[in-house]
Amino acid sequence: MTRLARPAPRERMWNFSAGPAVMPLEVLDQLRRDLVDLDGTGVGILEHSHRQPTFDRVLEESMAACRTLGEIPDDYEILMLPGGATLQFSQIALNLLADGATADYPDTDVWSAKAIIEARASVKAHIAVIFEGTTFRYDHVPTDSEMVPTPGAAYLHYCSNNTVHGTRYPLPPKAAPGVPLVCDASSEIFGRPLDWAPHGLVYAAAQKNCGVAAMTIVIVRKDLVERSPRALPTMMSYAAHAMAGSRLNTPPTFAIHTAGLVFRWMIAQGGTREFDRRNAAKASLLYRVIDSSNGFYRGLSRPECRSDINVSFRLPSRELDARFAREAADQGFDGLAGHKDAGGVRASMYNALPTEAASALEQFMREFARVNG
Ligand SMILES: Cc1ncc(COP(=O)(O)O)c(C=O)c1O
Repeated sequence: MTRLARPAPRERMWNFSAGPAVMPLEVLDQLRRDLVDLDGTGVGILEHSHRQPTFDRVLEESMAACRTLGEIPDDYEILMLPGGATLQFSQIALNLLADGATADYPDTDVWSAKAIIEARASVKAHIAVIFEGTTFRYDHVPTDSEMVPTPGAAYLHYCSNNTVHGTRYPLPPKAAPGVPLVCDASSEIFGRPLDWAPHGLVYAAAQKNCGVAAMTIVIVRKDLVERSPRALPTMMSYAAHAMAGSRLNTPPTFAIHTAGLVFRWMIAQGGTREFDRRNAAKASLLYRVIDSSNGFYRGLSRPECRSDINVSFRLPSRELDARFAREAADQGFDGLAGHKDAGGVRASMYNALPTEAASALEQFMREFARVNG
C-alpha cells in the first residue's frame, strides 16, 4: 500500500468529477438561502410559479448575465432548454438540416460520435464524417489540413473540448466558405473567450460549468432559428422556444436560476479571460507532472491539443489506474476514475474548481509516482 501523508480533514472533497461537477461555494450558499426564500418573497425558488413577476426577473437576469459573460452579440438568441446535450444531437439536425442536404462532422471523441449517430437517426440527410478520430484513438483533434469540408454544407458540427480523451481545438475549425459552425461546448463553455463570427450555434449541457443537469444552453444565430426546414413537434422547435422566450412549457426554473448565479459569479471573478488564465494554470500543474514522470503517467492527448479542462492519462497498468483513483479518494479527491470508454484517470477541472485543488492533486500525483514508480 502507498503511504501518503493524509491532508488536514476537509468538510468537502476536491471534486474532479466530469459532471455533474464542482460548483462555486458562494453560489451553493446563495442557493441554500434561495431554496427557502427567494429575495424576501417568502417563497423559495422551487416554489415560485414560472408565470409570475419574480420568475420573470430570474429569467431576465440569467439571460442577461449569460449574454454579458459570453459577450454574445445581439443577433444570437439564448435558449435555456430542458433536456441534456444529447437531445441537442437530434434537435440540431431537425432544426438546421433539410432532407437530402449535408452536414459535416469531425469525429473527435465519444460525444461527437454520439452526435453523429443521433443526427443520422433524426433526418434523411448526409452526415459526412470528415475526420475519423478513432483511427488515432482520439489522441488529437484535426488540423484544418486533415479535413475536407463539404462546400455548401448546412453546418459543420464540432466538439470544442472533448471531455473523455481530454483534447480540445486550439482554434475553431475552418468550415467551407459561408458554412456556419455548430459547437458542442458542454465541457468548456465560458472557460475561454469565443469568436462568435464563424458560429451559427453553440450549446452546452449545464451540469459541468453552469449548474444543474438536464438543462442545456443553446445560443443560436437568429437567422438560423427562423430557417427550420420542416414542421416539428413544438418542444423540438428552436423557433417555438425562441418565440416563447424559453417558456414554452414549465421551464427548468431552478436550473435557470442556478445558471444565472454561476454566470454572475463568473463575471465578478473576471469573466472568460480570467477563467481561461486560471484553467491554463490548473492544467499546466498536472501536465508538468505527467511530462516529468518518465512515462509513469501517459497523457491520452497529443500535447498540441491538450485540454485545459479534462486532463486524461493512464498509469503503467489498469491495477495502478484503479489504485490511483482509490487512494486519491481516500485523500479527499473525488471523481478521478477515467470514462468507461477510455479507462485510466481523468481530472476534470471546470471553471469552479479552485487552483488549490489542482495544486493538491499535483502533490498527490508526484507522491504516488514516487512510491509506485
Ligand atoms: C462534450 C459533451 N457533450 C455532450 C454530453 C452529454 O450531455 P448530457 O448528459 O447532458 O446529455 C457530454 C456529457 O458528458 C459532454 O461531455
